[in-house]
This record gives sequence, C-alpha cells and structure tokens, in this order.
Amino acid sequence: MKVGVVQESFPAEYRVALVPAGLPQLTKAGVEVVVQAGAGTAAGYPDEAYRERGAAIVASRQEVFQAADIVAQVRGLGANLENGALDLGLIRSGQILVGLCDPLGEPKAAQQIAAAGAAQFSLELIPRITRAQSMDVLSSMATVAGYKAVLMAADQLPKMFPMMMTAAGTITPAKVFVVGAGVAGLQAIASAKRLGAVVEAYDVRSAVKEQIESLGAKFVELPVEISGEGQGGYAKQLDEATIAKQREFMKKTVAANDVVITTAAVPGKRAPVLVTADMVRAMAPGSVIVDLAAERGGNCELTRAGQTVVDSGVKILGPTNLPATVPYHASQMYAKNMTTFLLHLLKTGVPNFNVEDEIIRDTLVTRDGQVVQQRVLELLNKSAS
Ligand code: NAI
Repeated sequence: MKVGVVQESFPAEYRVALVPAGLPQLTKAGVEVVVQAGAGTAAGYPDEAYRERGAAIVASRQEVFQAADIVAQVRGLGANLENGALDLGLIRSGQILVGLCDPLGEPKAAQQIAAAGAAQFSLELIPRITRAQSMDVLSSMATVAGYKAVLMAADQLPKMFPMMMTAAGTITPAKVFVVGAGVAGLQAIASAKRLGAVVEAYDVRSAVKEQIESLGAKFVELPVEISGEGQGGYAKQLDEATIAKQREFMKKTVAANDVVITTAAVPGKRAPVLVTADMVRAMAPGSVIVDLAAERGGNCELTRAGQTVVDSGVKILGPTNLPATVPYHASQMYAKNMTTFLLHLLKTGVPNFNVEDEIIRDTLVTRDGQVVQQRVLELLNKSAS
C-alpha cells in the first residue's frame, strides 16, 4: 500500500498530514510513503527529513495522486471548498482519501467525492471512545486552539496575566472566565493558570466540575442547575429558554472578568449564543473575548469569524484555524492521529471497510460512488426535501 502526502492547498494552512518521525511505524507495517516536495516545509519538516525516514519525494501534487492508494490530507474537499475542488480532476477511481472533510458542514462535497469514485474517511467523525482516543483529531486540534486562544488574549489585553509584587507596586492578576470546558476549554484553563491568571469556568455538563477544579480554577455555580449532559462526553442541545436563563445568570461573571474565552459547542449544531451584545457592553473597556466557536456562528453575538470586532472598548476575536498557527506541534499531533488511523485501516494489510467496526462505520463517508455515512445521508435527504 502506498500512502501519499500532499501540500495543503487551503489558504494559510501550514499543517501537514504526516511528519517524518511517524513514518517508520508505517514502513514497519509494509506501507510506502510518497510525499509532495515541500509538503512539510511550512510546518518545519523539510523534504530531507522525510527522505531520511524512507519516504519518496515527488515533485507535484499530480504525482502523489497518481502513485498513492491512500491520500492523507489535513483538509479534504469539504474543509477546503475552493482549492480542494481542483483535486477532483486528480482523484483516481477506487482511491482512498483520509482527512478533515467537514461532511456534516458541507455534505454536498461528499457527493462530489463519491462521484469521483473515491472512498473518503473523514477524521472529524472519529467516535470519542477509548479505543479511538489516539486517532481523535478534534481533541488534539482543540488542545492547540485552547492554548493559542489564551496567548491571543494575553497579547491583546492591556494588562499582564500574573500577579507581580514589585518595587513599583503590586500588579493584580488578570481574571479569565472560560465558558465550555471540553478539550479546548480545559486547555485554555490550564494555559491561563500557567500564565498566572485567576481562572473561573462554566460548563453545562456538571461532570467537568471536578476537572475544572483539578486545574486550579473555580467552577462557576449558576443559581439553577442546567443539565446539558449528552452522549459520549458531548453536550446535548439546550432549548432557547434555557440558554436565555444561562445568559442571565452569567451576566455578572462576564462583566467581572478581563478575558472571556468561549468554547461552548454541541456536535453538528450551530454554537449557542451565550454572550450578548449587552453583556459585552457591561465589560470594562480593554477586556478581551476570544470566541473559539467563531466558525460555527460564535458563542458571542458580536463575533465575526476571522475578524476582530471592537465594541465599547472590548475586543472580540473570532479566530479560525488556530491549529495552523502552531503548525509544528499541530502537525505532530495530527500525524499521530492519522498514523494510528491508517494502521487501524490497514490492520490486515488491505483497507478495512468493515462497518461492524465503529471507527470505520462512523468515519467512512463515501464508497463505491455513494455517500454511505448515515449522518451525512440524513443531511443530504433533508436538504433535498
Ligand atoms: P468539546 O465538545 O470537547 O467541548 C465543548 C464544551 O462546550 C463541552 O464541554 C460542552 O459541554 C460545552 N457546552 C455546550 N453547550 C454549552 C453551554 N450552553 N454552556 C456552557 N458550555 C457548553 O469541543 P472542543 O473540542 O473543546 O471544541 C470547542 C470549540 O472550539 C468548538 O466550537 C470547536 O469547533 C472550536 N475549535 C476552534 C478552533 C479554532 O481554530 N477556532 C480549533 C479547534 C476547535
């Protein structure tokens, strides 16, 4: 089996799907690796490093698609609509594509892949089960995003994060409120604590209270209990009345903090709006909101994806694709997830399409010219009716 790695074609996507250190594991399993020249350069992995670990370097994207049985990408077509469409002419029937493909956000892209005859595995659909933990790209990328969100906030805040007792007086620590304590939120809490901030956090899943406290942050108790426990460690969607209640109770906490980092998400749904324009206007000028849910509509009413909005002196940052801004380690983590997935896929030496296996069933989006993933099919049927 040959696995190909192409240079990412999405604008400012500096990550790469496999890194040199992971190649021996694949070679040992009988997998050959073909890498497009320059694919890892922006992430800090030169061609030479791939070559030293046994990969063949080819000059062009076309050559990778020609040679590879499986093409490993960070962003497949659905997650890279414009430039990804150029790959449709390169895909060979029967080829396997593995990457982040956003099939729940862009289900029509899956139809295009199916029409091109490729089998697509979409890694954001990896189930959150113990067996698949080391393939969980959403978790590893959210870890990077949670860390980077704190750095962005620290950079924009006109205050320092740590407490300092100096001859020029005492500096009080910055106050940070993290909303949503999933993977990104917990990493944001840990990173803000490391920088010396006083951190509080809230999540609708009460199970995370202990995790928040174990990181040295305070769990914000709201006067009513909101139960948001869903399946598989994810939240369930709350109705609008409950969210309105949550906003009401969070008002004071938001106003009392210098930085608010929002990460609240419900899988496959638009992000809940938890910070309204009024709540922003009650914050002190100079305060900063970093909204990690920007791409899914934002947890703050004023968020604009990819932009910084300033309203009554408060900066609202809506960064997208933060993992690509830390490409060395983001690629290392992504590549570990990708390698583990590939080894699972090729366990018997040939690709495993057995949908009795939960990992295969959940991630396999297209096969034999058809979209086969249940959730994607439901979305397509809904948009057709
Ligand atoms: P996750 O599912 O692990 O965590 C989301 C958390 O939000 C869960 O703990 C959930 O219980 C909580 N939540 C849901 N509704 C809530 C509510 N009404 N109030 C408070 N908490 C609520 O997700 P993960 O992996 O931590 O990702 C978080 C967000 O960050 C997602 O929107 C994801 O798309 C985004 N993200 C953004 C990146 C960027 O570059 N901007 C990169 C990676 C992730």
